[in-house]
Amino acid sequence: MIVPLVTAHQGPVGVLNLSRVADARPFTARDLNQAASLGRQIALAISNAQLLDRTARTMNEAQELHGVLQDVINAMHSGVVVFSQGDAPSLVNRSAAEMFGFGDRAVMPAKTLLRSIPIPLRKATRHAIRMGKRGRATRLRVEDGQEKAWSVIGRPLTDGVLVTFEDLTEYERQRRELERVNRLAEIGQMTAAIAHEIRNPLTGIRSAAQLIQGASESCRELGTMIEEEATKLNQLCDSFLDFARPLCLITRELRWSDVVLPVLEQHRAEIEAAGLQVQLQTEPNEPMITGDRVRLEQVFRNLLLNAVQATGAGGIVRVRCEDGRLIVEDNGVGMTEESRQKLFTPFFTTKPSGTGLGLCNVRKVVDAHGGALTVTSSPDRGSCFVVDLSLRKCA
Ligand SMILES: Nc1ncnc2c1ncn2[C@@H]1O[C@H](COP(=O)(O)OP(=O)(O)OP(=O)(O)O)[C@@H](O)[C@H]1O
Ligand SMILES: [Mg+2]
Repeated sequence: MIVPLVTAHQGPVGVLNLSRVADARPFTARDLNQAASLGRQIALAISNAQLLDRTARTMNEAQELHGVLQDVINAMHSGVVVFSQGDAPSLVNRSAAEMFGFGDRAVMPAKTLLRSIPIPLRKATRHAIRMGKRGRATRLRVEDGQEKAWSVIGRPLTDGVLVTFEDLTEYERQRRELERVNRLAEIGQMTAAIAHEIRNPLTGIRSAAQLIQGASESCRELGTMIEEEATKLNQLCDSFLDFARPLCLITRELRWSDVVLPVLEQHRAEIEAAGLQVQLQTEPNEPMITGDRVRLEQVFRNLLLNAVQATGAGGIVRVRCEDGRLIVEDNGVGMTEESRQKLFTPFFTTKPSGTGLGLCNVRKVVDAHGGALTVTSSPDRGSCFVVDLSLRKCA
């Protein structure tokens, strides 16, 4: 007797073959019913076993996929946090954990997590969660008012809100740097053109002033005055042109103190007249650096004169040559964060007779040497300029 094994969902899954021993009685209708019932039980058991097997395989695949997704999310540069509906974060990736300073597998209530998020970001995160819960995506840019910047993106999920955090500080720095370079290039071209045009008539004015000096006593005085003013304008044009021209360095090995000492000597009288102290500190075995002596003297002169001008009588300017770095620190008027940001903008000056090109030229020379220039300052406490050429240090 052949009994088909048929399941409700999969249809036929096999057959049950029953046979009698040679001289046994023939199958009855009752045997047939019992065989059909047995066939159904066997078909159900086979179907259950197949379903169990398929479920186990699906679960394994899901686990593998979950592992891969977890790896991908952890490898992401952005911080990722999923705020689940119940307000407990169900997922915090490695970048977010590092960004906000909690453990690798941080699981904590949303409120605790929000408290660990830096204040400027917290408000934006709360907003992203609120909007996400209403099914709306958000994208916010957050700045801490100093140098740091982030983007916060919120997206609704079926059961929660996905918030991603991206640190934009480096990107912003590069963007500002590119803007600065482009602006400098434009200003440089314009400055060079103007300075060139002014210099030609100035030469004529100076010659004429020299000529009229011999005519009479009053002409001598006026002629001298015109000549002096024309000379000043000419120097201004020179510094404009200097700023605009590309630099060509003539480098050699030297020490920072070789640069600093002659400049201090040249400005000794000026420093004494200003009534302040300049303290020089050098190392016994000062390392060599590679640089253009004339240009580096120009750098130090600008930093020194700025420090002297910012520090009144009784103030102190400290000059240190250490480990391939030149540090010029003063306890003068200092500057606000706003001024500090504008320091390297051409023509930015707070002095009645300043050109606002001194620090632009300093930066240009330091950049050409492949060095780094950093500034720290606080109002009424003073400023510190560091020129680091240690990367160019000779072994
Ligand atoms: N050590 C310092 N302390 C406080 N403010 C400073 C200091 N150095 C520079 N500054 C500020 O930065 C501005 C720009 O400096 P920069 O040397 O470029 O031009 P300047 O000194 O104004 O003019 P110039 O260098 O042509 O005489 C200054 O006017 C001043 O406001
Ligand atoms: Mg200056």
